Amino acid sequence: MKKTIFLLAVLAFISCKKENQPIDKTTESATETYSEGETAQTKTPEELGKSIFEGKGNCISCHQVDQKVIGPSIQEIAKIYKDKNADIVTFLKGNGEPIVDPSQFAVMKTNFPVTQAMSDEELKAIESYILQPFKIRDSIKQ
Ligand code: HEC
Repeated sequence: MKKTIFLLAVLAFISCKKENQPIDKTTESATETYSEGETAQTKTPEELGKSIFEGKGNCISCHQVDQKVIGPSIQEIAKIYKDKNADIVTFLKGNGEPIVDPSQFAVMKTNFPVTQAMSDEELKAIESYILQPFKIRDSIKQ
């Protein structure tokens, strides 16, 4: 019995040690880890959408808030979807037509396996995140 306890203690000690090391190294990419961890306990759809957009959806690698990188900016997407009263959820399910930059649709299409695997709640959260008014919040860098 004592042996078991001792072994457990050793194991616990080793696993603690292992956990500590990567945490030190990954402090720089902490934003990613943070936004993923946040998913479970976020409150507003916008916050949930942001955490998916920057976390497991990895949308942020192609869509910045206010400038075009590989894909159009979030603000541009929001403007066009509002103007045309179109549905982002439908698009992300793969059931819509591209209306922002159809010439680059093939690039965006590669994400449909990811977005199609998301729940309606997650897709609606992404939509709320994209459609929210960004200007005030993001011009004042937090
Ligand atoms: C590999 C780069 C890349 C990634 C990753 C990416 N996108 Fe895109 N996205 C694009 C490009 C390029 C376009 C422009 C083509 C188009 O309009 O369909 C686009 C367009 C869009 C549009 C506008 C579609 C339209 O009607 O024209 C939406 C909405 C969108 N992306 C959402 C997302 C979301 C949500 C994610 C994450 C799940 C994501 N994107 C990830 C490259 C990407």
